[in-house]
Amino acid sequence: MSPPRMTDLIVLGVETSCDETAAAVVRLSAAGEVCVLSSVVGLQTEQHAPFGGVVPEIAARAHVEAIDGVAAEAMARAGIRWEEVSGVAATAGPGLIGGVMVGLAFGKAVALARGLPLVAVNHLEGHAVSARLGARIDYPFLLLLVSGGHCQLLRVDGIGACTRLGSTIDDAAGEAFDKIAKSLGLPFPGGPALERLAASGDPGAFDLPRALLGRPGCDFSFSGLKTAAARRAATCSDASRADLAAAVQLAIARQLADRTRRAMTTCAEDLPPGERRFVVAGGVAANGEVRATLQDLASELGWSFHAPPLAYCTDNAAMIALAGAERLALGLTDPLSAPARPRWPLDPAAAAARPTHLPGRKGAKA
Ligand code: KG4
Ligand code: ZN
Repeated sequence: MSPPRMTDLIVLGVETSCDETAAAVVRLSAAGEVCVLSSVVGLQTEQHAPFGGVVPEIAARAHVEAIDGVAAEAMARAGIRWEEVSGVAATAGPGLIGGVMVGLAFGKAVALARGLPLVAVNHLEGHAVSARLGARIDYPFLLLLVSGGHCQLLRVDGIGACTRLGSTIDDAAGEAFDKIAKSLGLPFPGGPALERLAASGDPGAFDLPRALLGRPGCDFSFSGLKTAAARRAATCSDASRADLAAAVQLAIARQLADRTRRAMTTCAEDLPPGERRFVVAGGVAANGEVRATLQDLASELGWSFHAPPLAYCTDNAAMIALAGAERLALGLTDPLSAPARPRWPLDPAAAAARPTHLPGRKGAKA
């Protein structure tokens, strides 16, 4: 819980870990109320579209070109003066290292020039607090973080206090959406395109593998589904593409719900009913089927359900500004020597003890 404070905190947040160049200004009141004063997200979709995915070098160069303008626009839209800003929060990882370096260096430069404290924010901690941008949600809560690079269940007891309960052993859920969408011939980014196609499909028309359903533990796996769906996509008629998209979406939603059910059951053992709060965050939380399936599960098991407003599911800087403000409220700031980190697990002890990306890779990412 935050120590008592007399004044509001106003934080400029910067996010450049993937292909969004984003800046935002967020106010965290002394009473804990959150207000997004501005949130600007510059997209690079057109630059990456010809390659069917994000190209790290292109992303980093585009961030360099856009970050000044995006940050100036966020300050202008917020209608505040620099003297009112309490600190600068910039994503310091995990993510595409070139992009992370651009945003972090920009944040450091602003902090140095304006004499403000710097907060080097873990992008995943940003997603973890993102639902708090739209509603008051107290700690602790159970978090399902589902994005393009991550798929994990965590118990969040506060800022810097996360315990990982499970993680994907292969692809992230968003990655599965994107790769299957690509094999269906859909444009990048695949998740939203697949959801639009699925709207007119019958999910019962295809029987897809149900990985890990009912198995112990809270880990995820999407590679079998990805391979099976790609094989069907190669042979299915135009008329049945929507059915396949609907079946894929349902299979992903069901796996997320099955693993979350296990996590809820485990967490309920030491959480009183009034503290059973569930949050789903990350880009895949924008998916209607995923949200509805998880909402049904939460009400069945007696948990409150929370998801960020749609604009704050996918990458944005408001969530980074809020994570920064919460850290600032606790007196947690970083030196100008803070490094950019391509890998930065939220629960380092669990990541070291049970790495989900096995040796040969560069260590625990998520
Ligand atoms: O959180 P995010 O913007 O970036 C990461 O931190 O990874 O998540 C992006 C991911 C992509 O894989 C994208 O396809 C997926 O979220 N996504 C969706 C939807 N909107 C975004 N997946 C399914 N349905 C959607 N509506
Ligand atoms: Zn993200």
